[in-house]
Amino acid sequence: MDATLTQKVVLVTGASSGIGRAVCRELAHQGASVILLARNEQGMRETMSAMPEDQCLPLAADLHDLASLPAVLEEARNWRGHIDGCVYCAGVGGRARLRDTDPAFMAECMLVNCFAFVELIRLLVKRKERARPLRVAAVSSFAALGRDKYFVAYAASKAALEAAAKTLAVELLPRNVTVNLIRPAFVNTPMISGAADPLGDFAARLEESGYQPMGLIEPEEVACMAAYLMGPGAAHISGSTFSINAGAAC
Ligand SMILES: NC(=O)c1ccc[n+]([C@@H]2O[C@H](COP(=O)([O-])OP(=O)(O)OC[C@H]3O[C@@H](n4cnc5c(N)ncnc54)[C@H](OP(=O)(O)O)[C@@H]3O)[C@@H](O)[C@H]2O)c1
Repeated sequence: MDATLTQKVVLVTGASSGIGRAVCRELAHQGASVILLARNEQGMRETMSAMPEDQCLPLAADLHDLASLPAVLEEARNWRGHIDGCVYCAGVGGRARLRDTDPAFMAECMLVNCFAFVELIRLLVKRKERARPLRVAAVSSFAALGRDKYFVAYAASKAALEAAAKTLAVELLPRNVTVNLIRPAFVNTPMISGAADPLGDFAARLEESGYQPMGLIEPEEVACMAAYLMGPGAAHISGSTFSINAGAAC
């Protein structure tokens, strides 16, 4: 084990799958205690199967239910007595033409991808000792740049997430909180390859189109960036966006 993050306690949302799963495992590998948050308990158990048992606390929570978050965070904080970082990987999305983008889908994307992030950080900061640092990293997406068709709901929610994170980076600097963004192009996770895409096999199309000349990104690469942002090398970074672009034009 690499002991870079020993003594650190990091909350990871989206811990049951894809990028969040890889982040949990990488943080644990670097010595952190990890609080896993997601709805799917079986998915979290699978994530933990590759982590030391005493370094994991799984918490089932639905980010739709903002009112439930104070109690969830209370339990999270009681585990080790403090929380040093949060990697916000939870997300919903998918491609849809404008005609199929109804208000419910827009609301779902905004709620999970942006509003719940702001609420979680609000609660973490509210209960934090002033002198104790808090590191926040949020996973955005290339879609936030608004260049890809059929992503209107997802893109808008990720652009909102980016604006919120940058604003919080400025506002929370005096509170000893850093906030940064990771903005990956397409990553090899169930979000891309698992669900049936009504507009065709997206992963195959991506390969053919040469959109990402270096191919799909593996979730473990995003996890290394997240772990870096939780670690000693990133103590003086806040309000930054780290693109993992696989050669796609930024
Ligand atoms: N894959 C890509 O190409 C790509 C590219 C750029 C950015 N991203 C972003 O990376 C992040 C992770 O995506 P992924 O590719 O790893 O997708 P994924 O495998 O589908 O994972 C999504 C995660 O979000 C959680 N989640 C969704 N709705 C939730 C809710 N209401 N409450 C709690 N948790 C919820 C899911 O957990 P439960 O279902 O268990 O609740 C799951 O753990 C997302 O923010 C995504 O937008 C992905």
